[in-house]
Amino acid sequence: MPEAGRGSPPPSVVFPQSVASGDPAPDGALLWTRVDMPALALTGPVTLGWTVAADPEFRTVLVTGTTVTDQSRDGTVKVFVSDPALRPATHYWYRFTALGTASRSGRLRTLPEPDSALHSLRLGYASCQDWTNGYFIALGALADQDVDYVLHLGDYVYEAARSSATGTVRALSLPSGSDTAQTLADYRSLYRTYKTDPDLQRCHERHTFLAIWDDHEFADDCYGVHASGTADPAPQPERRAAATRAWAEFSPTACHLTSGQAPPGSVEFDPGQSADRQVRLWREVRFGTLVHAVLTDERLHRDAHPCGEQVSDKYLVPGCAEVSAPGRTMLGAAQRDWLVQTLGSSGAAWKLWANQTMLMQLKLGSAHLSALLALLPRPVADRLRRHLHGAGDGLFVNLDQWDGYQAERAGIARTLIDARVTDLVTMTGDLHSSVAGWSRVDYDAPPPIDFPAVLARRTVDPTPARGDLLGTCFMATSVSAANLVERFGMALSRRLHIPVHHLNRPVGRALEWMLAHANPHLALFESGSHGFNVAEFTDTELTVTMWAVASVAEAGACQVRAGHRFLVPRQTAPDAAPLIHRLR
Ligand SMILES: [Fe+2]
Repeated sequence: MPEAGRGSPPPSVVFPQSVASGDPAPDGALLWTRVDMPALALTGPVTLGWTVAADPEFRTVLVTGTTVTDQSRDGTVKVFVSDPALRPATHYWYRFTALGTASRSGRLRTLPEPDSALHSLRLGYASCQDWTNGYFIALGALADQDVDYVLHLGDYVYEAARSSATGTVRALSLPSGSDTAQTLADYRSLYRTYKTDPDLQRCHERHTFLAIWDDHEFADDCYGVHASGTADPAPQPERRAAATRAWAEFSPTACHLTSGQAPPGSVEFDPGQSADRQVRLWREVRFGTLVHAVLTDERLHRDAHPCGEQVSDKYLVPGCAEVSAPGRTMLGAAQRDWLVQTLGSSGAAWKLWANQTMLMQLKLGSAHLSALLALLPRPVADRLRRHLHGAGDGLFVNLDQWDGYQAERAGIARTLIDARVTDLVTMTGDLHSSVAGWSRVDYDAPPPIDFPAVLARRTVDPTPARGDLLGTCFMATSVSAANLVERFGMALSRRLHIPVHHLNRPVGRALEWMLAHANPHLALFESGSHGFNVAEFTDTELTVTMWAVASVAEAGACQVRAGHRFLVPRQTAPDAAPLIHRLR
């Protein structure tokens, strides 16, 4: 590793956000960095060199090039390296140089050839990193994992400068002085700050990312160019475009390139389009013939929430006619058709749907709710009591997820089952909880299999019939954003004047018990931790391990433990049920 030249500024000054790689191809990947032009008092364009080598010491240099950045993109740099010197499914090392200074180096991994026989794939996946609510310890732990690639499922930044749920662990202020990001300067400032976290930097340096966004890259519970949270949100195309532009500049996705040629099917970003059409995020990734992944966008093309946009219209509500109205969409017709066609025609052993919001139904039973009411803050209890009158089947926990778009969900599931699609696993973030379970066409119909018996391997029938089961789902909890136990525990602590650390365990237990009873298709619902998941695919089975970190309240406290663990064997036939066995 060369030292900075005499008089050259150190790497932490020239490249304070370090480096990242993403969107791999069999012969390359996207490389990212940022030159801190204001800190270096640079006003004109900056020329950088980049190098890809076969070894971490850069003794065997394979590809080099130069590129340019300037202030119009806040000094961000994207190069798509594509070169026959790079072999499929192989690790390489890369770095940038500018002003006589070399960046820290990163490691990238190219993709296998799409038709190659791959027998093992390890994917780490994570989402929901709120700077203000804690440190990104989980990403540091994920950096240390022996995974091939990392899927980032969104909420890479949070638009709010203050964590409303649990107080502020790390302070943040925005250039506009607003509580939530509004301008391009605000959104850029979020990414610049988040990307100084040392654990986040290490995870990027160590692994190649495949990233999609969720709501908080723009605004909480957003849909199209609308923020949610008020009775009748006005469209905010300029704010949406600012958020999109900052994301395109800072996310290691193969769009808005400085130089190089991204492969066909990469993310498209065209700032010349209207704000609701600037990005086509959805794409497919083939990990040989072992795993065929589709990555979707469940924000930009979706309809409004079914029963209204205020918090009280979306969370813990009995629903309304619109929740199952035909024609309502989460994906938009073009993306939905592509999704169904791609999954329906895939010949891969495993089909992976990497998405933002929980696919499975999530309800809270009326009987359990009644017992809760006495404990809750009075305004919340009063509201729930009113809802309960019309809630024969309980309340939907969250209509921002697929429960608010039920006709489209059922249609996709029915079409894929009819197409005899097997071995479909959905990986999700968004709800800040560790969740596992089965996706179905109709969650209120009698269960087609004995879920608890299958989970515990107590079933006498080794190949039960599929019924309306689509596949399996595994959600990773948040990297640092407030989980449900933190949220409810803090609310109860204020109400009951009991220290929150006395409440977390009973709140967590109560939540898990209530949700398990109201949602038999769930194999797990746990919302008391922060962490990430690792999915290991082989020719015969999938293993999902949910890793949890001890705390996000202190920097550097990187204690991590393997928590819940599940095994999914390959389906034996298209009409055989997908199975989940609990390992731990
Ligand atoms: Fe989130």
